[in-house]
Amino acid sequence: MNDYFMNTYHRLPAVFTEGKGCRLTDVDGKRYLDFTAGIAVNCLGHGHPALVQAIAEQAAKLVHVSNYFLSDTALAFAEELVAACSKVGMRNVFLGNSGAEANEGAVKIARKYSLAKYGPGRHRIATLKGSFHGRTITTLAATGQDRFHQDFGPFTEGFIYIPSGDIAALEKALDGTVCGLLMEPVQGESGIRPLDPAYAKAAAKLCAERDVLLMYDEIQSGVGRTGDFLGCEIFTDGKDGFKPDVVTIAKGLAGGIPVGAVLAGDKAKDVLGVSDHGSTFGGNPLAAAAGRAVLSIVNQPAFLAEIARKGEKLRAALAGWKHPLVAEIRGRGLMLGVDIGTDAWPVLEACLSKGLMMLSAGPRTLRFLPPYVITDAEIDEGLSILKSVLDSVKK
Ligand SMILES: Cc1ncc(COP(=O)(O)O)c(C=O)c1O
Repeated sequence: MNDYFMNTYHRLPAVFTEGKGCRLTDVDGKRYLDFTAGIAVNCLGHGHPALVQAIAEQAAKLVHVSNYFLSDTALAFAEELVAACSKVGMRNVFLGNSGAEANEGAVKIARKYSLAKYGPGRHRIATLKGSFHGRTITTLAATGQDRFHQDFGPFTEGFIYIPSGDIAALEKALDGTVCGLLMEPVQGESGIRPLDPAYAKAAAKLCAERDVLLMYDEIQSGVGRTGDFLGCEIFTDGKDGFKPDVVTIAKGLAGGIPVGAVLAGDKAKDVLGVSDHGSTFGGNPLAAAAGRAVLSIVNQPAFLAEIARKGEKLRAALAGWKHPLVAEIRGRGLMLGVDIGTDAWPVLEACLSKGLMMLSAGPRTLRFLPPYVITDAEIDEGLSILKSVLDSVKK
């Protein structure tokens, strides 16, 4: 049946036609409960009325205009997005279409900032072991996992990988050749691993002292996923004042319409000038309208508090099972990972056959990224399917 796509995804066997809320329907009319949100994209679920209306109205008015001009919608979106990220000191934004593209922008900012101030030889970027930053040649190079450094070389030069949580190693790594430190507040693809807050604060201090740009990849953890608008907020509040210089966002930002954003704080906001960067589709009015609709709903204290509450409910239920396969539960908000000590793929297949869409993060970790609009009853329903599947797995 699938003869026309390149074979780049290990796909689960379902072909979907439509969705509403946290339910999807496949070509045979079978219904599924969604614990994946399109890998943290469909944060408002499927067919959310406010998002549908915003997209439809904007589509009828103006879908695209070149970035040589502005649109009223993109202007408003940029202002609202920067305001949403102002808690961590962001001052302006460049809009693209994806996470990898946002991280490419971050790398360019760090390198140009350093080159202009210190000259050549200080172009390296440190990332964490186990990180994931994208699939372009540069963001693969930024990704701190050897398995992503095969087959496509030569990769972009100038990335070093340091162990998460080890401040002495970071201190040694920032040796005068490094211009940026790029980290995920919660590592997503490698198993939902939250960054240690004490490490994050110490790293921020060190970066500030050595004038290394501190950059957070919030592509999976941002837009409310952790229960805060940005996952890095918990590292940056309080009185120490160490804020990131650059933040990248994508995935959930426009609820399913492609958009990516690289935001910059005071130090980095004027680094990219005319002709330094660009993107044909980046932040077009359609994406901006969808982004505005998402922000207007998600970036509200009560809505974010509900994400945190639902995440706690999910975590407490999983812990309460005391299931022999549930070895460790990690994460924040509605971004949770559960180590099951056995191959996750058959669990995903069995869940799907029983009508539950689940993801893994690494070979033995189940990943929970449900839409924020999931109800308590839907959480219970999905968990009861998962439990019945885990009960039938032989370790
Ligand atoms: C933390 C992180 N960074 C970057 C990316 C790449 O985003 P995209 O697939 O939109 O290029 C992802 C995607 O999973 C991600 O989780």
